[in-house]
Amino acid sequence: MGNFSLNLQDDSALKKVLETGEYDKELAEIALEIRRHYYGDAVYMRGLIEFSSYCRCNCYYCGLRRDNTGLERYRLTREEILACCQEGWELGFRTFVLQSGEDPQFTDAIMAEIVAAIHERFPDCAVTLSIGERSKESYRKFFQVGARRYLLRHEAASTELYAKLHPATMSCAHRRQCLFDLKELGYQVGAGFMVGAPFQTTENIIEDLRFMQTLKPDMIGIGPFIHQSSTPLATCANGSVELTLRLISIMRILFPYALIPATTALGTIRPGGRELGLKAGANVVMPNLSPVRVRGQYAIYDDKLSTGLEAAQGLEALRQSVAACGFRLVSDRGDVAKH
Ligand code: 5AD
Ligand code: SF4
Repeated sequence: MGNFSLNLQDDSALKKVLETGEYDKELAEIALEIRRHYYGDAVYMRGLIEFSSYCRCNCYYCGLRRDNTGLERYRLTREEILACCQEGWELGFRTFVLQSGEDPQFTDAIMAEIVAAIHERFPDCAVTLSIGERSKESYRKFFQVGARRYLLRHEAASTELYAKLHPATMSCAHRRQCLFDLKELGYQVGAGFMVGAPFQTTENIIEDLRFMQTLKPDMIGIGPFIHQSSTPLATCANGSVELTLRLISIMRILFPYALIPATTALGTIRPGGRELGLKAGANVVMPNLSPVRVRGQYAIYDDKLSTGLEAAQGLEALRQSVAACGFRLVSDRGDVAKH
């Protein structure tokens, strides 16, 4: 691969790679070669169902935070969630991602019942949960009724940075514990963080990568930080697209087998951002399957895309756009490659 000989295990070499654009082309080339080796030209699609915008947490960066009282909130019923799955199934989705804020009204019993119903009605589909921190017992219950994947971004591996982005009631240690609990229970686990989060340094990102090397996540979600106007971090600068793409390539190289989405945040901050993500080494897209009437209300950050190619209903256009990047949108479960 040319004269590319930087060792990403070495912190000072990694710092250099992260801080300059000099190696981007080589990184992307290697990432694509690796991705092709593990996954061919497949891009997996996940149907995202944002079923509750209520959250008991108060993360400083997120529009769903509890203290954002200006936001109109919603919850979907069990029947509405199942109707989203039905629509998704007909469109060809074989993975449903149930995502919400940390909403105590969705108790363990209710969540388990919803997961069981989806699992029973769509036995050929994977159920992914993304509902935040719960006890190991709760996670066990969801696994028993059929959940097999869990997305829980670690947000920041540095205790100091974590404390700058979250109130003192939340802890980096507990977040990590949840991730290891999930792993131990047999879930395919997704971790990740925001690129260019306020106060984040290159050293922090290196800590994130090293933490992930100990966790060995199956899925990796990274996207640029995008400010949200009703949060305490409303005036902070957005994250960089270039650094996000560089990190997607680095993730692919460090975690060859990983399922890495080209995130909505990337598509929101730059037209064509999702496609750039795929070309940098991502292999998953997550169009929105939530009912159209609530989509605008899941306002994690400003101007979040939820229509067009981000909408499950825009699948044909998405298929073409994926094909134009040289890949193929496939409709199977897309479990993680053996590693
Ligand atoms: N910009 C980008 N991503 C965000 N998230 C939360 N707020 C923002 C923001 N302002 C991400 C977090 C979280 C998920 C719900 O979305 O990483 O895990
Ligand atoms: Fe809630 Fe997640 Fe937003 Fe934090 S990032 S406020 S836990 S939805």
